[in-house]
Amino acid sequence: MTERIEVLKTDITTLAVDAIVNAANCSLLGGGGVDGAIHRAAGPELLSECHLLGGCPTGQAKLTKGYRLPATYVIHTVGPVWNGGENGERELLASCYRSCFALAHEHGLRSLAFPAISCGVYRFPIGLAVEIAVREIVSELTAGDTVKKVIFACFGDEIYGAYLRAVQAIR
Ligand code: AR6
Repeated sequence: MTERIEVLKTDITTLAVDAIVNAANCSLLGGGGVDGAIHRAAGPELLSECHLLGGCPTGQAKLTKGYRLPATYVIHTVGPVWNGGENGERELLASCYRSCFALAHEHGLRSLAFPAISCGVYRFPIGLAVEIAVREIVSELTAGDTVKKVIFACFGDEIYGAYLRAVQAIR
């Protein structure tokens, strides 16, 4: 299992995988953080395709092409804003990971890279977000073999350390 999961300290826009995941907002029309970086690297054609998608509810995901990115596709998912933890935040974050995998299966994608969804301006507690991310990825990789490889693309030492510890703890 752990050979199918890689933790990298890197800019997700540099990764030549089948799909990188974007931590977007419900409009899917761009923003800051990883969303802004992905749109800048992909070029304006990405925003044009996003305009056709009609937004995306929190916890769900939609797929576009990757345009000028080295990745073939972008899976845009909308994480929950952390608002104390009593508003379904955990379930919605888990649902993001499951929705991304559902699209990966549908499109036969073999390699995926995820940012730390909701861990930036959406303020999800990092330890908890990482626990949910790793649990869901392990569960999806165990359930099917379409996706051969998952990369956690970490920006910053805190997130990188948290993912490394969580992945090393997988038995
Ligand atoms: N590669 C990998 N990770 C990155 C990159 C990058 N190039 N840039 C930032 N991160 P955030 P959210 C990390 O705020 O909390 C946007 O405006 C970042 O350090 O991008 O889900 C959207 O439009 C953090 O660890 O996403 C939404 O409005 C993680 O990616 C809102 O932010 C997620 O931080 C979504 O907020």
